[in-house]
Amino acid sequence: MAYTPAINRYNRVPRNWFRRCGKSGLLLPAVSFGLWHNFGNHADDSEAEQLCFTAFDLGITHFDLANNYGPPPGSAEKRFRKILKQLPRDELIISTKAGYGMGPGPYADWGSRKYLLSSLDASLKRMKVDYVDIFYHHRPDPQTPLDETLGALDTAVKQGKALYAGISNYTGEQTQQAVQAVENKDYTRLLIHQVCYNMLSQGPQTDLFPHTEDAGMGVICFCPLAQGLLTDRYLSEPLPKDSRAADPKGFLKPDQVTTDLRRKIHQLNDHARQRGQTLAEMALAWALNDKRVTSVLIGASKVDQIKQNVKVLENPQFSEDELTKLNAILTES
Ligand SMILES: NC(=O)c1ccc[n+]([C@@H]2O[C@H](COP(=O)([O-])OP(=O)(O)OC[C@H]3O[C@@H](n4cnc5c(N)ncnc54)[C@H](OP(=O)(O)O)[C@@H]3O)[C@@H](O)[C@H]2O)c1
Repeated sequence: MAYTPAINRYNRVPRNWFRRCGKSGLLLPAVSFGLWHNFGNHADDSEAEQLCFTAFDLGITHFDLANNYGPPPGSAEKRFRKILKQLPRDELIISTKAGYGMGPGPYADWGSRKYLLSSLDASLKRMKVDYVDIFYHHRPDPQTPLDETLGALDTAVKQGKALYAGISNYTGEQTQQAVQAVENKDYTRLLIHQVCYNMLSQGPQTDLFPHTEDAGMGVICFCPLAQGLLTDRYLSEPLPKDSRAADPKGFLKPDQVTTDLRRKIHQLNDHARQRGQTLAEMALAWALNDKRVTSVLIGASKVDQIKQNVKVLENPQFSEDELTKLNAILTES
């Protein structure tokens, strides 16, 4: 059925929903949506569409992709092309990335100029767009000179194929080096860093965020729900049949749902209930509580998950006592 975006989509978003991305002009929604899982060739057309349309109607203007999202690689971008036909391009922030293995041969992995620029062209073709809003280098490449990789991002922006440049999975030190290299070469500044950050992976707080803040870069956190571990999905056994951990194609493996983790998730869930939230809402609020974070980048397999997750700003505050209590749960052995 044809989709028409909800007329009131911007009136019903909470106050402070759009957050400034570092020291830039770009505003991102507090919750963004990623197409890593559930958009490959095996996905159901109508379910995939409904996920994106629901997100957009709820004020999620940012959709994140990568050349290799599928399976097979490239299929999420191809699917998004069909979905995009029904969405207003000027109201969207679309990102894609290159940096992981995409195909055979020596020019389809890591961070060479050859790979990044040809991959971006292929992404634009797959999505049938003239430009993406953000083009990321997906992971640091220890073999390629940083100047070459960052020079490729700069070229992408100068060619008008990307509006902004970003990096992902760089450590704090690597980020500092990248920012310095960009300054030295007078390349397009790095807008944003995409990093794994959640209650179970807090490292970026001390390793990365001081550097992104110094550089005026925004931060978008991927896997803010630890692929579903920080939700009510895995509170009891067995693994839900329709969950990522039970899906052989999923990146969350059954052995990651340990007894010890389950015990912690129960305690976190109890605490979330006391706050009048679901565990998912609390986990997202926790990540957004650090003001250096611009947006949390969620995935979803069901429309209701998105509806629940956008409620995050209904109770975003944590007291110091609460944060201490939550950390005690997370660190106790
Ligand atoms: N730059 C990088 O290297 C990198 C790496 C990974 C991801 N990413 C980006 O980050 C995006 C998000 O990653 P992610 O999908 O792992 O994020 P996530 O939000 O941590 O996990 C999403 C999964 O959590 C479950 N979920 C979500 N909301 C829920 C709710 N309210 N209640 C119960 N379960 C809920 C669903 O699992 P079920 O499927 O089990 O229902 C969903 O598929 C990706 O799409 C991609 O764009 C980037």
